[in-house]
Amino acid sequence: MTSKTYTNEFYDAIAEYYPLFYRDWETQLEREGLGLRSIFRNRGVVRVLDASCGPGTQTVPLAQLGFEVVAADPSGGLLAKARETAAKYGVQDKIQFVQSDFLHLHDNTKGPFDAVVSKGNALPHLLTDDEIETAVLTFFDLLRPGGTLVIGMRDFGPFMEDRPRFLPGFAHEADNGSEFISFDIWDWDEGPPVIATQNLFIVKGQGTDYQTIKRQVAFRPLSTDEVKVVLMEVGFEDVTDQPDRWERVLVARKPLGSS
Ligand SMILES: C[S@@+](CC[C@H](N)C(=O)[O-])C[C@H]1O[C@@H](n2cnc3c(N)ncnc32)[C@H](O)[C@@H]1O
Repeated sequence: MTSKTYTNEFYDAIAEYYPLFYRDWETQLEREGLGLRSIFRNRGVVRVLDASCGPGTQTVPLAQLGFEVVAADPSGGLLAKARETAAKYGVQDKIQFVQSDFLHLHDNTKGPFDAVVSKGNALPHLLTDDEIETAVLTFFDLLRPGGTLVIGMRDFGPFMEDRPRFLPGFAHEADNGSEFISFDIWDWDEGPPVIATQNLFIVKGQGTDYQTIKRQVAFRPLSTDEVKVVLMEVGFEDVTDQPDRWERVLVARKPLGSS
């Protein structure tokens, strides 16, 4: 099985639960929009490609803020969730949805974009050096000169040092008393390259009657410093790095003189 289909199966399977992987989904959408608006300030951003839109976490608030958004994702389940989120917020007509992974964006979208965004740790789903470089080069090609790239990813540097096995997730209780509890067990395959597999456990139920679901997905546990090197090798400049919840956000610019 390729990493691509394996990843899509994971996201298709968890799409219906996605908002429950946040403490407060509504607040998260608002925060994502405000965070991106502040990054885009004074950069002349109108047209944005959200290259791993998932359930619309960045796409929907960006559309609400008046940006023109093309929202791409390879998971049909998450794209359906993104459409549902957009409809809930009344912005479905302001977004163009496209089913595509990073490596096929050239076939499925048309640049130039003022900004390309990929938040939520999507890039580390690419497991080989070649795939990662090709994806970053694709972002570069799709941007106009002077355009902005925003990549949100877990900094796997400290994670690689600690090699954690157990990570707590969230516990939510619905009005009817039913509970949704999530946590991860991580497996480490020494490679090379090292591959980290997230085993996501979802426990659902009520009273003494609970059901457990387990889903797996793989990551290439790169540090943000390693990704910054790729960005600079591809030709990006002014690369910065800031924290945002559990991920770090890398912001880079395509040089004005490049084509
Ligand atoms: C954790 S979700 C993040 C979604 C959203 N951006 C967010 O912040 O909530 C990771 C996303 O990466 C997408 N993804 C996984 N592999 C990908 C690939 N090769 N190309 C593009 N997107 C990919 C998944 O389908 C999923 O939507």
